[in-house]
Amino acid sequence: ADTSVYRAGTTAPVNIAVVKYWGKRDAKLNLPTNSSISVTLSQADLRTLTTASCSTTFTEDSLTLNGEVSDISGARTQACFRELRARRAALEAANASLPKLSTMPLKIVSENNFPTAAGLASSAAGFAALVQAIANLYELPDSPSDLSLIARQGSGSACRSLFGGYVAWRMGDKEDGSDSKADLVAEASHWPGMRALILVASAAKKGVSSTSGMQQTVATSGLFKERIERIVPDNMAAMEDAIHNRNFEKFAEVSMRDSNSFHACCADTYPPIFYMNDVSRAAIRAVESINAKAGKTIAAYTFDAGPNCVVYYLDENKDAVLGAFVETLGSTSGWKAGIGAQVGVLDETV
Ligand code: PMV
Repeated sequence: ADTSVYRAGTTAPVNIAVVKYWGKRDAKLNLPTNSSISVTLSQADLRTLTTASCSTTFTEDSLTLNGEVSDISGARTQACFRELRARRAALEAANASLPKLSTMPLKIVSENNFPTAAGLASSAAGFAALVQAIANLYELPDSPSDLSLIARQGSGSACRSLFGGYVAWRMGDKEDGSDSKADLVAEASHWPGMRALILVASAAKKGVSSTSGMQQTVATSGLFKERIERIVPDNMAAMEDAIHNRNFEKFAEVSMRDSNSFHACCADTYPPIFYMNDVSRAAIRAVESINAKAGKTIAAYTFDAGPNCVVYYLDENKDAVLGAFVETLGSTSGWKAGIGAQVGVLDETV
């Protein structure tokens, strides 16, 4: 009998949306109510490193995250395992000489190089790395877009972490989700000056999970209808244009407006959800004063489902942007850390 241990590894990056995914039209398949766009951050700064192995000598599927055993019984993780195994099984059915990896228990070991609880989109990098590592182990011929269909079922935003650079998740309109996947808007090299500064307002775990926050927004916010029908489609078009034309002022305005629109919908739910806090609002004011001082928009804030702020800026303006943050926020209590990250390309694996 085959008692070998088969192994493959990969890294996956964090992505931060500039047009936000918020709302599911199908919670089981993670199908969104709107398309979204994100920027992938450099793996030198933030990444998940994952190794996948399988062997007949393992007793059951397992996942270790940052040294701790993780629960894999959830429907999301199970969906990823099932989809990947089905693809491997199809290869094995077509070629009898391939080892039967699809029937062997999987052992997944995953490490983040940043604090998991920092409120960053660790689930995006985590599920993207899990899917890519198993796809590598199984030697699947699937493209990043194909794999994004699987990662999406782990965590919606994870589908965008299969690419570097500027990435769109097209919502699609099929009921089975087969057209709800990510594609590349532009390579990182198209606009290499882009930088992201991550301001950690609180390392505490977020209050309302994205899944229940989305559910509550879809069910109770009146503003949300306007967001998905008009605001997001307009922001998607404007954002793709801004990226293609390397128009930072437009990129920044759409990012900030879209973040504001998303948080306004959260505040419009019943009862309201507040992800931003006083420290977050201080960051918004700091960005506004940086832009006022520069006489043009050189910095853009965006917030996910938590109080931490991500500031996008161009490297050519780093002195004005970073300097101002040290000045204005240095005295604001509550800031834990600032992480400067670059926009990354996916093939710079460690
Ligand atoms: O992928 P999830 O289910 O954790 O949702 C992510 C939602 C936001 O981060 C707020 C927006 C986004 O597009 O990433």
